[in-house]
Amino acid sequence: MAQTASRPLVEQASGGTPIVVSGLVVAFDGPPVIDNLDLVVDPGAFVSIVGRSGCGKSTLLRTIIGLEAPQRGTITVDRDRARIVFQEPRLLPWFDVLTNVVLGAGDLPDARERAAETLALVGLSAKAHEWPTRLSGGQRQRVALARALVSQPRLLLFDEPLGALDALTRIEMQRLIENVWSRQQFTALFVTHDVGEAVMLSDRVVMMDRGRIVSDTDIPAPRPRRHGDAQLATIEGRILDLLLAGGS
Ligand SMILES: Nc1ncnc2c1ncn2[C@@H]1O[C@H](COP(=O)(O)OP(=O)(O)OP(=O)(O)O)[C@@H](O)[C@H]1O
Ligand SMILES: [Mg+2]
Repeated sequence: MAQTASRPLVEQASGGTPIVVSGLVVAFDGPPVIDNLDLVVDPGAFVSIVGRSGCGKSTLLRTIIGLEAPQRGTITVDRDRARIVFQEPRLLPWFDVLTNVVLGAGDLPDARERAAETLALVGLSAKAHEWPTRLSGGQRQRVALARALVSQPRLLLFDEPLGALDALTRIEMQRLIENVWSRQQFTALFVTHDVGEAVMLSDRVVMMDRGRIVSDTDIPAPRPRRHGDAQLATIEGRILDLLLAGGS
């Protein structure tokens, strides 16, 4: 069948899907790691999760996407349209960049065309036929982002996706993620240790401590936002104070 001339395959906003977590309890061998947690994320919202190491952030994301089974509670989410991006890009070294992205398209039609368009979206068309080992850390993470985006997810979970990058690359990646999110309007749940990054990107910043949500802060600042903005810095300071005060 003939395709509509030059109509982009990956540009159409797919819209976000909500997350509703209720009374969630996740335990491994000992006490609960997620302890009776409730969380509602609106469709299309950008919500960050911050909290000390070991407080259960990754476990929460893994349970939402179905990689861990809860002991109690319910999660309502459209997992078929959800993807996760980790701190390490996890690319397959024996495939070139384009093929790594194609793999994220599953059995969608036009997978190669979609993958090529998504690579353009993250600014990496020129590297399509390069091996992953020949890319910089930031470029690899952009490929991982493209692989997650190519299926047009309605929910993207991020587990410290920028944690391994230098400060400048990190800011560029933040801009890229915000830009793609505002175009495609998926729901984003973003785990980070960097409170400034959380405040910069998010509509809401949720703080976890010992498996529970202990604070939930709306970030009303208009977009686009600027690094160093005074209003954002004030909110960041407040959240950092809470984080430091809640030490375990
Ligand atoms: N598969 C597992 N088996 C046993 N314990 C686990 C497992 N996964 C996580 N845990 C434990 O659950 C707790 C929470 O871990 P989790 O990885 O969710 O923390 P986190 O908030 O993501 O920490 P970080 O900021 O360091 O990434 C930790 O005490 C960890 O040891
Ligand atoms: Mg973690």
